[in-house]
Amino acid sequence: MQKILLVNGPNLNRLGKREPHLYGSKTLADIESACHQRSMSLGYELLTCQSNHEGVLIDFIQANQDEAVGMVINPAGYGHTSVALRDAVIGSHLLCVEVHLSNTSKREAFRHKTLITDVVSGCIMGLGAFGYELAILSIDQQLKEKI
Ligand code: DQA
Repeated sequence: MQKILLVNGPNLNRLGKREPHLYGSKTLADIESACHQRSMSLGYELLTCQSNHEGVLIDFIQANQDEAVGMVINPAGYGHTSVALRDAVIGSHLLCVEVHLSNTSKREAFRHKTLITDVVSGCIMGLGAFGYELAILSIDQQLKEKI
């Protein structure tokens, strides 16, 4: 079975409790479960990782990139700061979709850009938890159509 990686960065372990007006009421477990189901229904196995540590995220990508066909990543705060995570995304050679729960363009100026937006296939922001499922659907579509 082809594999998709689901990578979540710092503080996303607190979804459901953390600023629900921005990030919604679903927990990370809810989101991962919906993504597992969505992936399975499309014929993929989903491998998940959430960490508050940059190196753990990079280690996870490196350890699984050769076995995977795509990656959904919410880099969270590291998206705005981490050259190392950007380099890991580039180095993975995976079809990658970036997700943000909130519409970062409507927020503080320092959130308007991330260091990975220009190296991923696309970015989904502001659509809440469903954005993750849309990212999986989009990876499947792109793989099938070879866009
Ligand atoms: C976020 C947006 C980031 O700016 C923030 O640091 C996060 C979450 C989002 O999903 O909207 O932690 O990536």
